[in-house]
Amino acid sequence: MPEQKNAAHKPDTKAATQRTALVLGGTGRTGALVARQLTERGLDVRTASRRGANVAFDWDDPGTYAETLNGVDRVYLVTPVGRIKFVDQVANFLDLAAGAGIRHVTYLSTYASDRSPAEVDIRAVELELARRGAFTHSILRPAWVMQNFSDEHLPLINDTLTVPTGGGREAFVDAVDIAAVAVETLINPDAHAGAEYAPTGPHALTVSEVVGIIASVIGRPVGYNDIDPDVWINGAVDAGFVRADYAIMLRWLTGTIISGTSSRPNGDIEKVTGRSPTSFQEFARRSAAAWTLAPAA
Ligand SMILES: NC(=O)c1ccc[n+]([C@@H]2O[C@H](COP(=O)([O-])OP(=O)(O)OC[C@H]3O[C@@H](n4cnc5c(N)ncnc54)[C@H](OP(=O)(O)O)[C@@H]3O)[C@@H](O)[C@H]2O)c1
Repeated sequence: MPEQKNAAHKPDTKAATQRTALVLGGTGRTGALVARQLTERGLDVRTASRRGANVAFDWDDPGTYAETLNGVDRVYLVTPVGRIKFVDQVANFLDLAAGAGIRHVTYLSTYASDRSPAEVDIRAVELELARRGAFTHSILRPAWVMQNFSDEHLPLINDTLTVPTGGGREAFVDAVDIAAVAVETLINPDAHAGAEYAPTGPHALTVSEVVGIIASVIGRPVGYNDIDPDVWINGAVDAGFVRADYAIMLRWLTGTIISGTSSRPNGDIEKVTGRSPTSFQEFARRSAAAWTLAPAA
């Protein structure tokens, strides 16, 4: 796949060689959107992932790192997904990035990363960035992503959603809005050097309310099973949906909602992009096709 170029953008030759953004996780939920929006804004973009991106990049194959970084001056950093130990790989990559002359990294972290379990490397990656002077960085700490409800993360099974939240609330955020914040930091790194943003949606919703919105959009009833956390987590591990050590991450993510310490709406998206964050109603209307196919058995 060729790298994406915006033919309408005519930077001078020097700038053209120095304004290439590397988008790791470039085929994923936020990465694909970041790549598209950056291209629309006139940057040259290189997407990277194991399959289907501009370049083949595998966190588990350090031999892919150097070529991926060649000619790049800024990076959207999506760390290995579905696992808890990755800081050594990321540090190795960042060493190479510094050597390659990268000027800025924007890291997709997680809401309340400073309260994440010590066994999970989310915060450790933030600290790796903070201790490096060779390039600037921005950190994004989004709430639970709305797309969890429209993709394989939280599927409707027999028109019922199952996830433990204890009736708690979360300020679910649209991946489009996360990407828009990331794009601003990558377009103008100097203005966002050292910045930490926590993108959230405009409302803190219970999953019962989410289910009600989905039901109203698709025009049929949707149930909600606020399941016991241990049953849900053990079921995910036993079914092979997640690695056994990822249970600690699922317990933390659901535990913050259950304990009432989860995300609440803030103004970060509007502050960075100048636009209001997407509501769950808007997201659900846009995503209705995800729930209008025949219910999964
Ligand atoms: N879900 C949420 O509610 C939520 C909330 C806050 C933060 N986050 C964070 O968001 C991040 C995930 O970002 P996302 O949702 O944009 O991505 P995503 O949709 O989960 O996609 C993952 C991307 O990473 C690539 N990838 C997976 N394994 C890889 C590997 N070993 N080497 C190289 N690339 C690999 C995938 O492509 P290939 O499979 O082709 O390699 C894909 O492009 C996670 O770090 C998560 O903690 C998620």
